[in-house]
Amino acid sequence: MTTHTRDVEVGIVGAGPAGLMLSYLLHLQGVEAVVLEKHSRHHVEQRVRAGVCGQPTVDLLRDIGLGARLELEGLPHHGFSLRFDRRDHRVPLTELTGKRITVYGQQEIAKDLIRAHAEKNLPIEFEVSDVALHDLDTERPCVTYVDATGNAVRLRCAAVAGCDGFDGVSRHSLPSGVLTVYEHEFPYAWLGVLAHTPPSHGELIYAAHERGFALHSMRSPELTRLYLQIDLGDRLEHWPDERVWEELQRRLDTVDGFRLREGPLLDKSITSMFCFVAEPMCHGRLFLAGDAAHIVPPTGPKGMNLAVADVRRLAYALHRLLRRCDPEPARTYSESCLRRVWCAQQFSCQMTAMLHRDPDADDFARRLALAQLRHTVSSRPAAASFAEDYVGLPFE
Ligand code: FAD
Ligand code: DHB
Repeated sequence: MTTHTRDVEVGIVGAGPAGLMLSYLLHLQGVEAVVLEKHSRHHVEQRVRAGVCGQPTVDLLRDIGLGARLELEGLPHHGFSLRFDRRDHRVPLTELTGKRITVYGQQEIAKDLIRAHAEKNLPIEFEVSDVALHDLDTERPCVTYVDATGNAVRLRCAAVAGCDGFDGVSRHSLPSGVLTVYEHEFPYAWLGVLAHTPPSHGELIYAAHERGFALHSMRSPELTRLYLQIDLGDRLEHWPDERVWEELQRRLDTVDGFRLREGPLLDKSITSMFCFVAEPMCHGRLFLAGDAAHIVPPTGPKGMNLAVADVRRLAYALHRLLRRCDPEPARTYSESCLRRVWCAQQFSCQMTAMLHRDPDADDFARRLALAQLRHTVSSRPAAASFAEDYVGLPFE
């Protein structure tokens, strides 16, 4: 098979929020990039994942001219409920921080970014296979792959961005010993469902219950997103729709008779709850961003927001490196991203432990979690600190 060789400044592996946003930000700074994605455009635009955008992410989308649909269809939220002891305890985000969150599906952001790429003729190659990274220690790394029509391609770059998620190839292309990995697994998982029914409450509800955690979220006035804590190793076939609704109703029950509106389930998936950080987030001319470098448990909705924060910094660093011969922002890229990552990790782990029922915990640990919940909703400084972390640290 003949191999076609192409040159580009930045090769980006992965068309999730990190890869798409990086490509667009680079374009705005005049740096050319190619995005390589193993799945189809349809798959990327339909995959149900994140729903909560922090204020910094929303502001960035607006600042780069991609906020119109989010403004129109996104659901701004000024608070949410911590539900425990069968009662709601509202965290008034805006009152405490002056900021809000916006519920707008990750796949909607993907659609907006893909459309913006199409309008400006920016290259995204979908359905590529056999992606491999080479010569990362040199100033001319390259990415080889097979494109959707079966042609072998060699992409010669000045830098490669590994935006290919936790299971991607980029992180694994580094020589062993380069990365230090920090991991933690929680002894439970999440079952997530998308239901064709209007939300049952105007805001998100994070419920701590003796049977386990439950979350009421939404995607639109017609679509509700719900999550249930389930056992580690549990499988989708153990969760027929009736059981999902029964368990959600029990865990979201309140003293004043709250009932969820039920409806057909359109999507059902299991997410494991683990934390992962790979340090440093770059080596030679490979820069990792988003889930390729770190995973936070989804309880504090941070993963996509962190991915956006990473690539905002990376776009600047690559522009300085490739167009201004200034290596300093690239040199400090990892260190400055990791500071935010560990803050988010700490917040998400704490929120996870506070809200879930840990099967391995003793009664003492359970009382501590309850004490923390009570403190969070009854002390204004504690609520304000929690709310600041939840809405997201500003991009500096
Ligand atoms: P991904 O979205 O994983 O994108 C990586 C892309 O790379 C994929 O398209 C993949 O197909 C592609 N790829 C992988 N390997 C290759 C390869 N070899 N070649 C080419 N392409 C490849 N975060 C929030 O901020 N808010 C939330 O409310 C929130 N809720 C969540 C709920 C759930 C149930 C889950 C699971 C996650 C949630 N997250 C949330 C986290 C968020 O979804 C992720 O952090 C986010 O998707 C990370 O984006 P990314 O671009 O780094 O990686
Ligand atoms: C959603 C996901 C989260 O992880 C979260 O904390 C809140 C909402 C969601 O998918 O809507």
